Amino acid sequence: MNTATSTAYNYKVVRQFAIMTVVWGVVGMGLGVLIAAQLAWPELNFDLPWTSFGRLRPLHTNAVIFAFGGCALFATSYYAVQRTSQAPLFGGPLVAFTFWGWQLVIVLAAITLPLGLTTTKEYAELEWPIDILIAIVWVSYALVFFGTIAKRKVKHIYVGNWFFGGFILTVALLHIVNNLEIPVTAFKSYSIYAGATDAMVQWWYGHNAVGFFLTAGFLGMMYYFVPKQAERPIYSYRLSIVHFWALITVYIWAGPHHLHYTALPDWAQSLGMAMSIILLAPSWGGMINGMMTLSGAWHKLRTDPILRFLVVSLAFYGMSTFEGPMMAIKTVNALSHYTDWTIGHVHAGALGWVAMISIGSLYHLIPKVYGRPQMHSIGLINAHFWLATIGTVLYIASMWVNGITQGLMWRAVNEDGTLTYSFVEALEASHPGYIIRFIGGAFFASGMLLMAYNTWRTVRVAKPAEYEAAAQMA
Ligand code: HEM
Ligand code: HEM
Repeated sequence: MNTATSTAYNYKVVRQFAIMTVVWGVVGMGLGVLIAAQLAWPELNFDLPWTSFGRLRPLHTNAVIFAFGGCALFATSYYAVQRTSQAPLFGGPLVAFTFWGWQLVIVLAAITLPLGLTTTKEYAELEWPIDILIAIVWVSYALVFFGTIAKRKVKHIYVGNWFFGGFILTVALLHIVNNLEIPVTAFKSYSIYAGATDAMVQWWYGHNAVGFFLTAGFLGMMYYFVPKQAERPIYSYRLSIVHFWALITVYIWAGPHHLHYTALPDWAQSLGMAMSIILLAPSWGGMINGMMTLSGAWHKLRTDPILRFLVVSLAFYGMSTFEGPMMAIKTVNALSHYTDWTIGHVHAGALGWVAMISIGSLYHLIPKVYGRPQMHSIGLINAHFWLATIGTVLYIASMWVNGITQGLMWRAVNEDGTLTYSFVEALEASHPGYIIRFIGGAFFASGMLLMAYNTWRTVRVAKPAEYEAAAQMA
C-alpha cells in the first residue's frame, strides 16, 4: 500500500501496457487465425503480395511475441517491480518513452512486414532503423527496471525480479549481437555474419528468444501472480533460486538443436542436444514450484477461473518443456523437423503457456490498477478459460497428428529406393488437420474478444482521478 502522492506508484504506464496487451492480443491472434485459414484455403491469400502467407506469417509472429507478449511483460514487470520494491518506477520521462517507443516499433513492424521489407532472420525480421529504435527502447527499459530495483525500500530482491531482470539483460544482448548488420539502403541491410556462423548466431538468438523472452520473463510473471492469486507463499523459495540460476546457465547453450543435420559442426549439434535434455530439469523445477504453491488452495480452482488460467498455463509449460527436449534428440528431430509437429510444439508453449499466464496475470492486474474490486464479469473469464483451453488442445493435437503423418510419409521408401508418397499426397493428408487448427485458433481468438469486452466494461466505469486514488490503496 502506498498513499503518499510523492511516492505513488506509477500505474499509468501499467494501465497503458495492459490495455495494449489486450488490443495486440486480438490483432496478433486474429492474424494467426487468418494465416491458419490461408493454409487450409489458399484462395484467402487474395493473390496480393501484401496479404500473402509469406508476409503475414512474420507479421503474426511479431505481433503475438513482441506486441502482445512484450506489452504483457512490460505491464507485469512494471507492476511487480514497484510493489515488491515498495518504490515508484525510476526514470521520469523514460518510463513514458518505453511505452510510446515500443508502440512505435510495433506500428513500424505492421507497416514494413506486409511491404516485404525484411532481414529474413526469423523473429528478427525488422530492418536496421527499427532495430536501432528497439535497442534504444530496450536500454531505457533496463534503466527503468534496474533503477527501480536500486532505489527499493526493502533489502531483499524478490525472485520474480531476478527473472524479469535476467530476461531484460539477455534480450538486450541477443538483439544487439544478432542484428549486427551492414545497411545498404534505408530499408535493406546484410548480416555481418556469413554461412554457418550466421545460422548459429541466428539460432543462438532464436532459441534464447524462446528461453528469455518467452520463458524467463513469463516465469517472472508466474512468481509474482501465482502466489498473489492463490494467496499462498511460493512453495519453495530455495527451489526458485536454484531454478533461476540453473535455467539461465543451461538455456544459452541449447540453440544448435534448431540446426540438426546442417553444415554446423557435429559437436555443436550434439552439445545443443545434450544441453536441451538437461534443460528439462530446471524447467520442471519451476513448473513444480508454481504448481505446488497451490498446496492447500486447490479448492480455489473450483471457483476462481483466474487461478485456473495460471495453473493450466503451468501444465502447458511442463508439457512443452518435456516435448522440446525430446524433439532436440537428433533421431526424433529427423522426424519432426520441417513438419507441423514443430508448429504444435510452438503453440503448446505460445498459447498454453505464454498467452494463458499473461491472460491470468492481466485478469488479476487490470482491476487493481483501475481501482476496481474485480473484473466486470467472472462468468466471461470462465468462458474465456474454456475457449482458450479447448482451442489450445485442438491446435496442438491436430498439429501432432499432421506432423507425425508428414514425417512418416516423407521418409517412406519403396523397395527400389523411390519415395512411396509425393509431397502433394502428404499435403492432402494434412488438410483436415489444418481445418481443425483453424477451428482451435478461432476458439482461442474469440476468447480474446471476450477479454477485450470484459476489460472495456471494467475500466470504463471510473474516472481517472477516482481510479488513481483507489488503485494506490489496493
Ligand atoms: C489464435 C491463436 C493463434 C493461431 C490461430 C496461430 C496460428 C499460426 C499459424 C497458422 C502459424 C504458421 C504455421 C506454419 O507456418 O505452418 C503460426 C506460426 C507461429 N505462431 Fe502462431 N497462432 C496463434 C497464436 C500465437 C501466439 C499467442 C504466439 C506466441 C505467443 C504464436 C507464435 C507463433 C510462432 C513463434 C510461430 C512460428 C513457428 C515456427 O516458425 O516454427 N502464435 N501461428
Ligand atoms: C526445455 C525447453 C525446450 C526445449 C529443449 C525446446 C526444444 C525445441 C526444439 C528441439 C525445437 C525444434 C527445432 C527444429 O526442429 O527446428 C523447438 C522449436 C521451437 N520451440 Fe521449443 N523447446 C523448449 C521449450 C519451448 C517453449 C516453452 C516455447 C514457447 C514458449 C518454445 C518455442 C519454440 C519455438 C517458437 C520453436 C520454433 C522455432 C522455429 O523454427 O521457428 N519452446 N524447440
